[in-house]
Amino acid sequence: MPSSLLHRLGMAHPLIQAPMSGANTPALAAAVSRGGGLGSLGVGYTEPQAILDQAAQVRAQTDKPFALNLFVMPDTFEVDEAAVTRARERLDALMEREGLAVRTSRPPHWAPSFSDQFAALCEARPAVASFVFNLITPAQLRELRRRDIYVIGTATTVAEARAWAELGVDAVCVQGAEAGGHRGTFLHQPEEALIGLFALLPLTVRAVDIPVIAAGGIMDGRGMLAAEVLGAAASQIGTAFLTCPESAAADAWKHDLTQAEDHRVGTIRSFSGRAARGLQNRYTQAMHPYEAELPAYPVLNALTAPLRRAAGQAGRGDLVSEWCGQAAGLVRPMPAAELVNVLMDEYRAARKQIVA
Ligand SMILES: Cc1cc2nc3c(=O)[nH]c(=O)nc-3n(C[C@H](O)[C@H](O)[C@H](O)COP(=O)(O)O)c2cc1C
Repeated sequence: MPSSLLHRLGMAHPLIQAPMSGANTPALAAAVSRGGGLGSLGVGYTEPQAILDQAAQVRAQTDKPFALNLFVMPDTFEVDEAAVTRARERLDALMEREGLAVRTSRPPHWAPSFSDQFAALCEARPAVASFVFNLITPAQLRELRRRDIYVIGTATTVAEARAWAELGVDAVCVQGAEAGGHRGTFLHQPEEALIGLFALLPLTVRAVDIPVIAAGGIMDGRGMLAAEVLGAAASQIGTAFLTCPESAAADAWKHDLTQAEDHRVGTIRSFSGRAARGLQNRYTQAMHPYEAELPAYPVLNALTAPLRRAAGQAGRGDLVSEWCGQAAGLVRPMPAAELVNVLMDEYRAARKQIVA
C-alpha cells in the first residue's frame, strides 16, 4: 500500500537516500531519484550560492523530486576562546607528530549562516526539505509551505519526534543509535538519545500521527521490510550509498567501510564538536582523552578542517572522519542505480518469503 509520503512525492519505492553532507553529490541524489527512490543532498556545510548550484545540477540530471537537507543552527553563538586555543595546540601537535605540513588557523567564519542557507533552500525550492540538529521556527515552516515544499524533521527520541509533529511538519525521520554521521539530538544529552531503531520506531509510530521514516543500520531490502513491519513509511539509508562511485567519500574511506567491524564503529565528538557515528581510528584514539574540553560544533569542525583535508590528500584514512552506521560491514560497492534495484529486489523477495 503506497503511504501518503510515497503518494505525495511520487516515489515508486519506500527508499530515501540519506542526506550525507561531505559525501553526497548531485549525481548520487539524481541517480536515486531517477531510480524511483528519493535522492537527498545534505548541504549543511554548503554556502548559499553553492546550494543553488548543486540543486541546479540535480535538476539537470532528473526531473524527479529530490530533497535538500540543512543543519538547523543559530546564526550567532558564543565561542570559548580558551577552548579554541587549547584545541589548536592539541591539533597542531598531532599534525606535527603525524608529519602533516599544515597547521590550524582561525577561519573567517565558523560556518555558513543558517538564515542565508535557508533562504537559498527556499529559492531552490526542492520538492522536499529535511532538517536536523534542531527544530525550525513556525515562520520558517510557513515559508516552506508557501512554496509547497514537503517538510521532514529529524528526531532521535520520541520527545523530539513529538516536538516536530506539534510544529506541524509533514513527516519525521527517526534516527536510531545505529545511524552513521552526526546525531540529530536536540532535546537531550547525546548519550541519553542513543535509542536503537527497533525500539525508537514503534514507539514513535504510536506517539505521532504523521508518517515516520526509519534511519539507522538499514543496509539491504530485508532491513527495509523490517522497518516497514515496525510501522515505517520509508527507509532512509546512508552508509550503504557511501561506497557507490557517485559518492564523494574518499577512496580510503570507501575501502575502510568494506573492512568495518561493528565494535569499531563508535560515537565520536572529537572531529566536529558534535556526537557523530563513524569508524574509530588513530585520530579518535589520540583525541579521545580531550573530548570534553574541545569546543562545540561548528567551531571544532572548522578547526579540524585543515587536518582532515591534508590527511585526506595524503590518503591517511586513520586521521580523517569516516562516518558510517553500525552495519557498515554490509556495504556493497556498486553504482547507485544498481543498488536501488538490488535493494528493491531484496525487499520484494523478503516480503514474498514472509507472506508465503
Ligand atoms: C557520511 C554521512 C553524512 C551524513 N550527513 C547528514 C546530513 O547532512 N544531514 C542529515 O540529516 N543526516 C546526515 N547523516 C545521517 C543520515 O541522514 C542517516 O540518519 C544515516 O545515514 C542512517 O544510518 P545508516 O548510515 O546506517 O544508513 C549522515 C550520515 C552519514 C553516513
